[in-house]
Amino acid sequence: MTESDGPNSEQRQYWNEQTGPKWVSMQSFLDDLLDPLGRAATDRLGELAGKSVLDVGCGCGSTSIELARRVGENGAVLGIDLSRPMLERARELASDAGLDQLSFLETDAQTHRFETKMDAVFSRFGVMFFADPVAAFTNLRGAMRPGGTLSFVCWQAIQDNEWFMAPLAAALEHIPPPEPPAPGAPGPFAFADAERVEGILDGAGFSGVEIADHRQELGLGKGLPLEEVTELLVRLGPLNRLLQDASAELIETVTCSVGEAIRPYHVDDAVRMSSASWLVRAVA
Ligand SMILES: C[S@@+](CC[C@H](N)C(=O)[O-])C[C@H]1O[C@@H](n2cnc3c(N)ncnc32)[C@H](O)[C@@H]1O
Repeated sequence: MTESDGPNSEQRQYWNEQTGPKWVSMQSFLDDLLDPLGRAATDRLGELAGKSVLDVGCGCGSTSIELARRVGENGAVLGIDLSRPMLERARELASDAGLDQLSFLETDAQTHRFETKMDAVFSRFGVMFFADPVAAFTNLRGAMRPGGTLSFVCWQAIQDNEWFMAPLAAALEHIPPPEPPAPGAPGPFAFADAERVEGILDGAGFSGVEIADHRQELGLGKGLPLEEVTELLVRLGPLNRLLQDASAELIETVTCSVGEAIRPYHVDDAVRMSSASWLVRAVA
């Protein structure tokens, strides 16, 4: 069996063909947006100097670069991802940063056979897409030294994330709502239920699971005009999926409505909306 036939082949295709190139084109917008949440999860790893860290679903690599700075030249960071285009951007950004302690690998976190034991495993929104989360986290625990720390950030329910919900509600004035995904199906909100996350980590053999409720206002598109932020939001996440086969006319109508809906949140230099995520930590 080749990796492309593996349990996450659907996600591999999704993150290579449709969404990966889009994330690359929106990389600096998304990194600015998600940076405070990634930092909150990174801080929960404690002192990292000299340590080895695995960044799961590292995407375009900005979190791997930050981790590489924190471990320093005596440490090591490995960023892994399924998405070739996103890893290409990660390698470009890393070479600009000149960090020898950082490397990347295109592979599936659920099935990859890791050869070395890491001190820590980290992820910013990269662990909610596994076909079999218990198998994936069991595999990741196997990549850690006993006592090593796992820290990741994942979304709470879409209803608790204004920055997803406000644009989506505006779009739903013009298009029928999507079929709700099966509970826990791989996707951005697969870990919305904290009890489920705890069960997955217990099932994978982690101990001391801590799940913190993290609420934070996000500044979308700092310095960009409202029209540009609106277009970026329409191309992102659930809204993008809803508009996949829509006509140019419908996309234009939805874009106008989304623009009006987010206008009241445009304060100073950014669209400021609330977010809710879980900061999850556990011990291998
Ligand atoms: C929402 S993006 C987050 C990317 C990056 N961590 C960030 O915060 O910018 C999710 C990432 O997880 C990756 N991913 C999904 N399933 C994966 C798997 N089984 N193994 C490795 N990476 C995976 C995707 O390719 C994608 O880059």
